[in-house]
Amino acid sequence: MTEVNLANVTKDYGSVRAVHGIDLGIGDGEFVVLVGPSGCGKSTTLRMIAGLESISGGEITIGGRLVNDLPPRERNISMVFQNYALYPHMTVRENLGFSLRIAKADAAAIRTAVRDAADILGLNELLDRKPAELSGGQRQRVAMGRAIVRHPDVFLFDEPLSNLDAKLRTQMRVEIKKLHQRVGNTIIYVTHDQVEAMTLADRIVLMRDGHIVQVGTPLDLFNAPVSTFVATFIGSPPMNLIDGTATDDDTIRLANGLVVPVPASARGLLQAEQKVQFGFRADNLMPAGHAVQEDGEMAELDLTVTLTEPLGTETLLFTDVAGTEVQAKMLNPRPVRPGETLKFHLMLDKCHVFDAISSQAIRS
Ligand SMILES: Nc1ncnc2c1ncn2[C@@H]1O[C@H](COP(=O)(O)OP(=O)(O)O)[C@@H](O)[C@H]1O
Ligand SMILES: [Mg+2]
Repeated sequence: MTEVNLANVTKDYGSVRAVHGIDLGIGDGEFVVLVGPSGCGKSTTLRMIAGLESISGGEITIGGRLVNDLPPRERNISMVFQNYALYPHMTVRENLGFSLRIAKADAAAIRTAVRDAADILGLNELLDRKPAELSGGQRQRVAMGRAIVRHPDVFLFDEPLSNLDAKLRTQMRVEIKKLHQRVGNTIIYVTHDQVEAMTLADRIVLMRDGHIVQVGTPLDLFNAPVSTFVATFIGSPPMNLIDGTATDDDTIRLANGLVVPVPASARGLLQAEQKVQFGFRADNLMPAGHAVQEDGEMAELDLTVTLTEPLGTETLLFTDVAGTEVQAKMLNPRPVRPGETLKFHLMLDKCHVFDAISSQAIRS
């Protein structure tokens, strides 16, 4: 059983605090993704778990064992980086077995481990090739194979797909997920890409400026973001936010003059005249006249189109509401011209309210 636990873990580089006392419990076999903008402390956190970076404060345990002062090789972890350097003069077979040869494993054990890893990753046909004879995706699979052969308790991935083109990245994402389903190890995976986080994670840990902002399943973060930062980081397109002011009768006056009822989740929690940001996703705007009948309260919203992005089955509309950009989707595409004003129905029970000053969600 391999849980990983971080208690009040801090990292200082000189006078700069890169990680601010974070607490995080990761369950045995769980696939956890650390995500956040560049520089928020993801790699530092992962490298402290790996033992590649010293810990300035707090405790890290792996499988119940305190590892603060253990060197990486004694932590039974395997790490895959963005720049996975394969040994160019060695074949795939030799690359896969290298760490076991260094560890003085016997020849039969190495053969078995290499064969198992090759089976899992579909590398059997490639074992006698050199890295130069492989595609980018195949090389990345060999890098993962090198991590597997050691039967680690925990896999650590740091942006392993960032160097691949978009199509390959999507394919490898699926392979990593399959790998997890087959081997079931605990995985801690770092990425700046929210799509990777959403698609891979059992749980997402969203970081910002060395702090954990929110931890939860992908849908927790998507449906109940704790702040405007989470609301705009997770999900594509980002959540729309319109400035508003609470009135004294449980309504909010939006910047375009529209007055909407306070969503049920925030009712009774607003002060009159409180400045807020009113949030909703493109998916919660239905073009007026659309056949789909939705339950719940609706508000009518006029959107003036500034730009369109046809995506095939749907068209993304960039629109303007009193100087704020609002993105909407048109599900039955027809040519739309910039300057056109279209009527939408906003599903009010799917809306969010954030305090304009603290940016925190207001929700019971
Ligand atoms: N070796 C280092 N020396 C000094 N500062 C560092 C070092 N490594 C990272 N940092 C700083 O720590 C912060 C977090 O970096 P990092 O963990 O690499 O972020 P991320 O992986 O989320 O992009 C950044 O401000 C970065 O500049
Ligand atoms: Mg990084």
